[in-house]
Amino acid sequence: MSLLVPTELSDRAEKLIRGRRSTRAFRPEAVPEDTMRAIFSLAGAAPSNSNAQPWRVEVVSGATRERLADALQVAHAEKRVSVDFPYSDGMYAQVHQARRAAFGAQLYGALGIAADDHEARAAYDAESLRFYGAPHVAFLFVAGDGGARLAADVGAYMQTLLLAMTAYGVASCPQGLLSFHADTVRTELAVGEGRLLVGISFGHADGAAPVNHVRTERAALEAVTTFHG
Ligand SMILES: Cc1cc2nc3c(=O)[nH]c(=O)nc-3n(C[C@H](O)[C@H](O)[C@H](O)COP(=O)(O)O)c2cc1C
Repeated sequence: MSLLVPTELSDRAEKLIRGRRSTRAFRPEAVPEDTMRAIFSLAGAAPSNSNAQPWRVEVVSGATRERLADALQVAHAEKRVSVDFPYSDGMYAQVHQARRAAFGAQLYGALGIAADDHEARAAYDAESLRFYGAPHVAFLFVAGDGGARLAADVGAYMQTLLLAMTAYGVASCPQGLLSFHADTVRTELAVGEGRLLVGISFGHADGAAPVNHVRTERAALEAVTTFHG
């Protein structure tokens, strides 16, 4: 017999958490400034080790967004890559690689790009440096030396921000790809301190775009969770 008693909040949490998904095509309309302020204030309620709040957030819109998108295209074309957090495919175990491959097949399938069409995939990824057409992008920097523990705090901030956006009807896509151009972002935004973890494109979803109809699945509870005792 189940003793699970859903509350009003658990129902809302189910809706909010499962309702968030990555959006990869946006309409051009800006998010009103008061909505943005509400979202980023709410995100600031994220937990962090000893409440240090070791994040720094740069929210980019308008002409600065245009300039940055152009600079990222140039950096990409010139193969100017700079990462603050090292990356290698080798950091993924086989099971995680398999999930990534399944996701890639789903995403590029929705875009009508064949699995072996590496050129088209690369072109799509390059174009994504224009924030998938979103009118805004937020860059999350990890303060200080950006060690793994501080990055974990910023990860908690990221998810809180994504949920706050969802709650206010704003669509989003976290883009690790943007962090491969850390120096370009730093230069264009005159940011002197911290390490770039991720960029989050956001705005209003283009409901007509097939790519926005991709639905990802998750591993079974037992595959990732052990209950002791
Ligand atoms: C840290 C992080 C980096 C990501 N980087 C990218 C990216 O560079 N490009 C992209 O299209 N999606 C990116 N995503 C979105 C993931 O592909 C997406 O969260 C995942 O497939 C699950 O789908 P969902 O967000 O719709 O639930 C990223 C997500 C996270 C959390």
